Amino acid sequence: MEKLLITGGQSLRGEVRISGAKNSVLPILAASLLNDGEVILGNVPHLQDVTTTISLLTEMGAILSIDEKMKVSINASSVNKFYAPYEMVKTMRASILVLGPLLSHFGEAKVSLPGGCAIGSRPVNLHIEGLKAMGANIKVDNGYIIAKAKKLKGAKISLPIATVTGTENLIMAATLASGQTIIKNAAKEPEIIDLANCLRLMGAKIRGDGTSEIIIDGVKSLSGCSYDVLPDRIETATFLVAAAITKGELTLTHTRPDTIKVIIDKLKNAGANISINEDKIQIKVNSQLKAVNITTNPYPDFPTDMQAQFIALNSIASGKSKVIESVFENRFMHVQELVRMGADIDINGNTALIRGVKGLRGAPVMATDLRASASLILAGLVAKGETVVDRIYHIDRGYECIEEKLTKLGANIKRLPQ
Ligand code: UD1
Repeated sequence: MEKLLITGGQSLRGEVRISGAKNSVLPILAASLLNDGEVILGNVPHLQDVTTTISLLTEMGAILSIDEKMKVSINASSVNKFYAPYEMVKTMRASILVLGPLLSHFGEAKVSLPGGCAIGSRPVNLHIEGLKAMGANIKVDNGYIIAKAKKLKGAKISLPIATVTGTENLIMAATLASGQTIIKNAAKEPEIIDLANCLRLMGAKIRGDGTSEIIIDGVKSLSGCSYDVLPDRIETATFLVAAAITKGELTLTHTRPDTIKVIIDKLKNAGANISINEDKIQIKVNSQLKAVNITTNPYPDFPTDMQAQFIALNSIASGKSKVIESVFENRFMHVQELVRMGADIDINGNTALIRGVKGLRGAPVMATDLRASASLILAGLVAKGETVVDRIYHIDRGYECIEEKLTKLGANIKRLPQ
């Protein structure tokens, strides 16, 4: 397995271009299954999860092409297999996003149940219940969701938890259903708005996205479109923490500062100087960071996808801090690895208590999930000596060219072959 070797101690400086959002491009690629036209996507990040989704769509019979600038064109008119096998879904849970589009456009879908993962049990019961409310006939057999529907019908769906991919699956299913669908307690993440923006270009009738009530009026058919994916707010925030933790000075370009207000506020509280100019964010840190308390919650609150990175930051900041994880039940796997690097952290249920230390020491550590890998890389950038992060395939799922980008900013990081 490939590893990353990081020799810590360099302050990051320079300019970094932010890539398209993983959590936008995955539902948008799935949405291409809703029409027979050509969907052309720009600002597509070169990520393992994108490659997996492209393979999945190709396996189903879609025709895809990608140019050297990662402009992806998809034509789903030739799709003739309505199937997402376990082998693909187990490497990428977001494969569940093909369920709604397949069912709505082709009337059938067989999609593997994702199962648990390193950060919790992560069921998809709400996706299934929502589709059943729209008239789908769904059974679970041999680990597969087998769904059929001659024509989905609009329904009133009240989600007990504001699930992100669940909301996306239901929006996509509702675009071609007969009548109106109202999703209450919908997720409000910017990626939901991005998906809705793309679907509207295809001809869908959606309003309320970005609020907790989304209304979709079904249409007979959708057509192709050309769309640029939203910048990745989690990559943006991770680079901001990289600048802060190394006491550096960075300019982030091609990003959307309005999608990370809560992160910017936390970093300012920690002592960072931050200025914003349209799609650019400048950050400069030249004094000791102060630890900040955090509670993760759905958007617009603090994202669970930034919890691990802020624990790394708090580990070397002055003072004690409390980080409460409210979204997933088991998302502290990075903590024991940070402790091996000298961090002083106790876990009590869903709360991490962090006492800032003067510095971290390099160590061999193991990445357990995507954002945990980012946290360990951040710790490695500031640790004394060498850190080797194992199981780095997790990072390639969600951060485009991470070591190239960090190297350009002055980090000492290289990939070790298997
Ligand atoms: C999405 C993001 C992921 C992020 C997460 C929370 C994508 C591809 N992934 O994941 O990066 O960490 O949102 O912001 O966009 N739940 C149920 N039943 C369901 C669905 C969810 O109980 O049917 C629970 C989950 O276990 C979890 C909570 O709801 O505790 C939120 O999960 P959800 O919003 O669904 O996360 P994902 O959409 O999988």
